[in-house]
Amino acid sequence: MVSTTINAPPRVAVLASGRGSNLAALLAAHEHGELPVQFVLVGSDKAAAPALRLAEAAGVPTLALDPRSYPDRRAFDHDLLQRVAASGAQWLVLAGYMRVLDGDALRPWVGRVINIHPSLLPLYRGLHTHRRALEAGDRDHGASVHFVTAELDGGPVVAQAHIRIEPGDDEDTLAERLLPLEHRLLPAVLGLLANGRLQWMDDAPLWDGEPLRAPLVLGVDGLHAAE
Ligand code: GRF
Repeated sequence: MVSTTINAPPRVAVLASGRGSNLAALLAAHEHGELPVQFVLVGSDKAAAPALRLAEAAGVPTLALDPRSYPDRRAFDHDLLQRVAASGAQWLVLAGYMRVLDGDALRPWVGRVINIHPSLLPLYRGLHTHRRALEAGDRDHGASVHFVTAELDGGPVVAQAHIRIEPGDDEDTLAERLLPLEHRLLPAVLGLLANGRLQWMDDAPLWDGEPLRAPLVLGVDGLHAAE
């Protein structure tokens, strides 16, 4: 058991598989004094992930584990999450982490892991979300931050950022417009966890002590309750 010092900022680990722009947004928010947490570890399933270089540059300890050196996904995830626990992390943020966490390994972490996903969940779990929104003829699109459960992109959604799909949009233009909103959304949700406004109790999110009835919405000045 890791001891907690009164008033110490909550300790956070991040997992990322790729370029790490959402991680960069978290680190920048912290650097600017807007995110009162301590980043204790950035881990990846890809040793070459640019996200790891960003973490190193920010002085955050890193961990790269190769899934191919484990007998199966469960063994990999157990080891990964044990190492995350050993870092002292209280919360875990998945920021472009491209693997599904095994349900058994995840169990001790449920309610303490959030993920950012580029769709308005429950729409378009999984990959190619921009393409699928375009193919469906949607007018609204966006990104979601949700608590992670064993179900792929299926845990309770906490907050969403919305964009309109305009005529002429393609996957690239959607990603280009959405990504800056993701970079505000994820630090904002982590900030709510850090200041205690967002909690997890009895398998569900609480916001300001009340059950969260609908995802919070990212507006120009931050997150607010859905209207
Ligand atoms: C983001 O679009 C995120 O929503 C999704 O994967 C992408 C990661 O981008 N889960 P980055 O590595 O944070 O730049």
